[in-house]
Amino acid sequence: MEIISATYIKSSPDYGQCPKADRPEYAFIGRSNVGKSSLINMLCNKKALAKTSAAPGKTQLINHFEIISATRDKSGKQEKRPWYLVDLPGYGYAKVSQKQRKSWSAMIEKYILKRENLITLFVLIDSRHEPQLIDLEFINQLGAWSIPFALVFTKADKNKPGATIRNVDAFLNKLRETWEALPPHFITSAIDKNGREEVLEYVGKLNAT
Ligand code: GTP
Ligand code: MG
Repeated sequence: MEIISATYIKSSPDYGQCPKADRPEYAFIGRSNVGKSSLINMLCNKKALAKTSAAPGKTQLINHFEIISATRDKSGKQEKRPWYLVDLPGYGYAKVSQKQRKSWSAMIEKYILKRENLITLFVLIDSRHEPQLIDLEFINQLGAWSIPFALVFTKADKNKPGATIRNVDAFLNKLRETWEALPPHFITSAIDKNGREEVLEYVGKLNAT
């Protein structure tokens, strides 16, 4: 699958103000600063599409981007398809008040549970760290809600490959303790673009079904 265009559409303070749910949608979520916005830019090959920041807590709203992608059918004909990619605000930022935390939870819960065109949630995990309780808890919550998701281990360029694999395996082993089947997972770097093809292929496959 090839991305032909990626365009910012709007930032919504809550579910009710999101664009019409008239095409498949894929949302990116994870700890504050894990690299959600950077991953979106890397996938779309556009440096400043989603706003990134070295300081956590940059993304505060539900940000919709319209993607037009193309695939070739068996006869070689190009098929174009529109879908939405969504950048969500992160969780787990220490400097957030109890009140803001609650409002984040309410906003995210409503979006995740109600957004009828949401095909899959990509949950981003920082590959530099050992399994973190906050990520495991969030994933278990998705399980309780029966929300389809895939894992993306980010910032793989920051560590030696061996250390990344160790952290990924440790995380998957943690999931094995409570999950019967593991979700799909990807290892990415927004710097060297590793994992780009794999994530896009996965979206392409889901779009085709
Ligand atoms: P919030 O919107 O604040 O929740 O953060 P976010 O998850 O959108 O993270 P963002 O993409 O803004 O990236 C946070 C910081 O990590 C920035 O300084 C990025 O440059 C850096 N970063 C993101 N992805 C990568 C990566 O793959 N490799 C490296 N080395 N740095 C990365
Ligand atoms: Mg962000």
